[in-house]
Amino acid sequence: MSRLVVVSNRVAIPGENRAGGLAVGLQAALQERGGLWFGWSGKTVREASGTLHELHEGNIRYVTIDLNKPDLDAYYNGFANRTLWPLLHFRLDLVDYTRETREGYRRVNALFAEKLAPLLRDDDTIWIHDYHLIPLASLLRERGIGARIGFFLHVPMPSADLVAAMPEHARLFSTLYAYDLVGFQTFRDVERFQDYVRLFGGGRVLTGGVLEAPGGRRFRAAAFPIGIDTELIAQQARAAMSKGAVRDLRRSLHERQLAIGVDRLDYSKGLPERFRGFERYLERHPDQRGSLTYLQIAPVSRGEVSEYRLLRNELEQIAGHINGTHAAPEWTPLRYVNRNFAHATLTGFYRMARVGLVTPLRDGMNLVAKEYVAAQNPEDPGVLVLSLLAGAAYELKEALLVNPHDLDGVADAIATAANMSKDKRIERWQTMMEHLRKHDIGAWLRDYLKALGEDQ
Ligand code: G6P
Repeated sequence: MSRLVVVSNRVAIPGENRAGGLAVGLQAALQERGGLWFGWSGKTVREASGTLHELHEGNIRYVTIDLNKPDLDAYYNGFANRTLWPLLHFRLDLVDYTRETREGYRRVNALFAEKLAPLLRDDDTIWIHDYHLIPLASLLRERGIGARIGFFLHVPMPSADLVAAMPEHARLFSTLYAYDLVGFQTFRDVERFQDYVRLFGGGRVLTGGVLEAPGGRRFRAAAFPIGIDTELIAQQARAAMSKGAVRDLRRSLHERQLAIGVDRLDYSKGLPERFRGFERYLERHPDQRGSLTYLQIAPVSRGEVSEYRLLRNELEQIAGHINGTHAAPEWTPLRYVNRNFAHATLTGFYRMARVGLVTPLRDGMNLVAKEYVAAQNPEDPGVLVLSLLAGAAYELKEALLVNPHDLDGVADAIATAANMSKDKRIERWQTMMEHLRKHDIGAWLRDYLKALGEDQ
């Protein structure tokens, strides 16, 4: 088996990050085959970008690269998160395009390629992750790297016409043709990519998921819906019930039901709409007043990007309005918390919540939805209210599926979830849990790497 080289903007360096499910899964794959994980060090330095740091643990070599403020501003805060992120989440209205940040993005990708290329061997399998690093394979190919290279887009692939609205879109998106396998979260993302290649990218769609670039190079595009470590989450959630933070939360509820949302503070997550949907629930179901408390955990994310700061202000205003209007002396309907919690603690919160609210306006997959399900008590599970516009909706069909723009629909789904009989809750949960057990993170890794190893 060839060595695995993973490249991503963020690297789960041992001891530094709170490793999420994806990191744990990737680490397992790297450990098994022997591997290298390459990416940004997470540090902003004063001097020139490019200093490398190295760490070995077991079979894995971690190599990270420092970036300075101007590079990080152009690449991460700029082109990745103010141009590509909104574009890929169907938000043309929020796209900020400048040649300067586009060049910064290209420059940092070229620096990644320059530093990574000498570390590579011909028989490596290289796997590049997400929208920060789209052009990396083509920049590695320019440096003579002939190894197999795969890409996985964790976020949605938008409709072709939206992509085509970005200046010089072909210059960026045609760099995807340098990969051997381009992976997406859902079959709809694959279809939208095929449309783009056909309509605007000068390529052809052949059979069997094979695409042909204008110069004749062939590569594959397919869907690999990402999973979670289902058994581990179930186990963690069971164990978490005795944790202090989980017991404190239970005590504070005074027998009231809990609805929970956990999202990075990001406009793709539909938080203002969700808050308003919850207010609509309070208005439309006055008989249920005081019976359910909604806890929204929303750690601040990408705080240097202006759209994120504006969103934070907006949410504070709506939360204040909802509680000002609907709270009673002994009850606050909405608890809004910006701090983060250990992953294991969150699984305990999920298990305690009768209602899981996952209502993004667009999401590649959404792993909170899957984790909420995996964390439930099999004998008394809660109900997932899930946006139709999240990738997870293609798999978790027994959730209460809502359109996040339909506030009345969200309001009624909360009420339905809060009052659903135990039998129905168990039936829905079992079907979803079975799916999550079968399609877990291990299956995702195996399927992707197997496809990457296959010839066209
Ligand atoms: C999304 C992206 C990831 C990213 C994560 C956190 O899930 O797909 O690539 O790492 O958000 O965002 P951040 O900007 O903090 O890395």
